[in-house]
Amino acid sequence: MPGIVIVGAQWGDEGKGKITDLLAQQADAVVRFQGGNNAGHTIVRDGTVWKFHLVPSGILYPGKRCIVGNGVVIDPKVLIGEIHELRARRIDTRGLKISANAHVIMPYHRLLDTAGEARLGKLQIGTTKRGIGPAYADKASRLGIRVQDLLDEKILKKKIATALEPHKLALRPYEREPELDLHTMNEEYLTYGRQLQEYVADTTRLVWDALEQGDLVLFEGAQGTMLDIDHGTYPFVTSSNPVAGAACVGAGVGPRDIDEIWGVCKAYTTRVGAGPFPTELADEMGERIRERGNEYGTTTGRPRRTGWLDLVALRYAARLNTLSALAITKLDVLSGLDKVFVCTSYSGEDDAAFDEYPYHQSVLHHARGELIELEAWSEDISDCRSEEELPAPARDFLAFVADFVGAPIAMISVGPGRDQTIWTSTGAESLLGRAALAAE
Ligand code: IMP
Repeated sequence: MPGIVIVGAQWGDEGKGKITDLLAQQADAVVRFQGGNNAGHTIVRDGTVWKFHLVPSGILYPGKRCIVGNGVVIDPKVLIGEIHELRARRIDTRGLKISANAHVIMPYHRLLDTAGEARLGKLQIGTTKRGIGPAYADKASRLGIRVQDLLDEKILKKKIATALEPHKLALRPYEREPELDLHTMNEEYLTYGRQLQEYVADTTRLVWDALEQGDLVLFEGAQGTMLDIDHGTYPFVTSSNPVAGAACVGAGVGPRDIDEIWGVCKAYTTRVGAGPFPTELADEMGERIRERGNEYGTTTGRPRRTGWLDLVALRYAARLNTLSALAITKLDVLSGLDKVFVCTSYSGEDDAAFDEYPYHQSVLHHARGELIELEAWSEDISDCRSEEELPAPARDFLAFVADFVGAPIAMISVGPGRDQTIWTSTGAESLLGRAALAAE
């Protein structure tokens, strides 16, 4: 076997990029299983900054298989751009494999995304406008264009024409857009097909083969649990399932193929876009956390909303994903604050109190985080490399989180650099920890 899933345990942007990149070093294959180029992660390697939206983490390691699974929606122009960039910087991309069954984001999906948001006005979701929602909607309507269709000259045009039919009314304001011309679109996407052909594969079988020969396969989630279309803060969510269970569907494996599930979360909370955020700090402290944590979106550059660590939501995420381990990122951002808080329950309208994440949308919209204060620490922790080196209040903070959430902490990140990472004893005993320590 072993299969390991990494998911975001909050509203995305938890720092999965760094953690996945580190863990990918020990893996034989890395598989993306949902989302699209709404995701974005930055990897700093030897002083060079890399930004990826679609290519799985791990591509920078020679010889690694990097798989874009069937559950991903692919904007081929973005993917080809990333491949070109990698090649220009002399990275071998031969390990990249793209599912023939993955769905394709078309120009009309991007326009429909923008039009949909405009129509919602004040109620808008704050999507990334990359066409993610409309592409998944067409997939569910069985009108989607798949990667394999880009390789079939005969059927692509027909499929596009059929897919456009139900969108005619919504697309009327854009009918003069050259990119919507059927012939142009057909030619453009056939060209993408030719450029991607060498990477297209039966990725499900590749993953099975890897698992069967005992390779370590990392399933890399995008976004975060609270943005899950079924379990998140609907309708202020993305259009896929960022929870661990979706790794099975989005890659083509069964639950018994998964051995460990890692949830990544910050030592505080952020979210971009609209929607409930019970621990949001719309004050000077929120601003301080934003600046110290450099909380601006990788994909859209938008300032992120910030707040204290929401343990009610994190415990919910731990259960939804059956997390075997937590990786806590950006603990260094809390250093030097006069006060540190965590949220352990919510209060609502009419003095209602909630220990668990409320399922009802209107209840959630009024929920405010009830905070408890934990001891702060003033020391700079960015040079700490073991749990013992952390100041006692920082260790207590971590112990409180693990205890409340019911999941052990395997890894702690104290800065953006690869070396600014602490493996805890739980982490060292995990499949990846053992592989990492054996490699040292
Ligand atoms: P969409 O995925 O572009 O449809 O956007 C839906 C919601 O998910 C919006 O609130 C976005 O800000 C949020 N979102 C999508 N992708 C990410 C991500 O990678 N990180 C954080 N938020 C995201």
